[in-house]
Amino acid sequence: MSKKIGILTSGGDAPGMNAAIRAFVREGISLGYEILGIEYGYAGLLENKIKLLSSRDVGLIISQGGTFLKTSRSEEFKTENGQKKAAETLHKAGINALCVIGGEGSFQGLKALSQYFKGCLVGIPGTIDNDIPGTEYTIGFNTAVETAVNAVDKIRDTALSHGRIFFVEVMGRRSGNIATATALACGAEDVLIPEIKTNIEELCQRLVHSQQKGKLFSVVIVSEGDDAGGAFKIGEIVKEKTGLPERVTILGHLQRGGTPSVYDRIMASKMGIKAVEFIKNDMNLVFTSFKKGEVVPEPIGSTQQLSNVNAKSRVEMVRVLAG
Ligand code: ADP
Ligand code: F6P
Repeated sequence: MSKKIGILTSGGDAPGMNAAIRAFVREGISLGYEILGIEYGYAGLLENKIKLLSSRDVGLIISQGGTFLKTSRSEEFKTENGQKKAAETLHKAGINALCVIGGEGSFQGLKALSQYFKGCLVGIPGTIDNDIPGTEYTIGFNTAVETAVNAVDKIRDTALSHGRIFFVEVMGRRSGNIATATALACGAEDVLIPEIKTNIEELCQRLVHSQQKGKLFSVVIVSEGDDAGGAFKIGEIVKEKTGLPERVTILGHLQRGGTPSVYDRIMASKMGIKAVEFIKNDMNLVFTSFKKGEVVPEPIGSTQQLSNVNAKSRVEMVRVLAG
């Protein structure tokens, strides 16, 4: 009898999730598994939105952003009853293993589900934030940073022409990874992130000093989760304190969309294949972590900080390189 494996995407979508689904489905089928796609994440699981996937069903999705299985955030699944119902749905469908592509919240969901589901649970890290402990990389980060850098390069043209300070807000409620990578790659004047307390006085001094040195424009990257507030609030305070002309741009969800980069497609393909291997080897509650150039198993719920360990030094690097 063929083993049935389910796959779903959960939480914020990320470019490259489709490439991971494609690899997982095709590798699984090649090994003789039946692959069932669950639509709309945990919410869809609770509503029994399950369909058999063929190799052809995942054709042409490697280059598409978003997730063709759709995604959601589900409050019901966070409850004990929701998790019991989800496990029951999986058992009734004859599913022996489940793969979840998502962020840290989705992985916590997997752990909760393991109390009631009798089978193998594995994860693939997919979030533009690159903030899952236990892995150096999560699918979607590279594409999101490329998108943000392309946008800032355009903003710089108008900032320079008008001699203005631009506060550009990027995503990352709890993580400054997108912000620091964007700031480094576009040569921003400064970067403000949730991991490091923001000192507005010092920021103003740096901006004024920069003007005095003859640099009449500046770009400051602000992570949406920065403790001093969003870009609008910070921009207002800086204007009040320095009188310097400022404008604000919120990049928002455009960072989540778009065709995945080559890096994300390849990383997602590798992780999709590895996730099937973990299931084949009956490995439970592990995810496809990227460490030192290899995709390796890591326990779901790992607390090893790898991706944002150098946040402070990256902020310092941005400030030094601003010149
Ligand atoms: P992400 O996976 O991108 O971090 P969320 O934090 O919104 O996104 O989590 C996605 C979904 O995972 C939630 O809507 C919820 O259904 C489930 N989830 C998150 N945290 C938990 C938890 N502690 N217990 C059970 N389910 C959870
Ligand atoms: O987790 C990815 C992410 O894009 C975060 O950077 C952001 O804070 C959040 O999702 C936004 O989520 P929503 O889909 O609720 O707007």
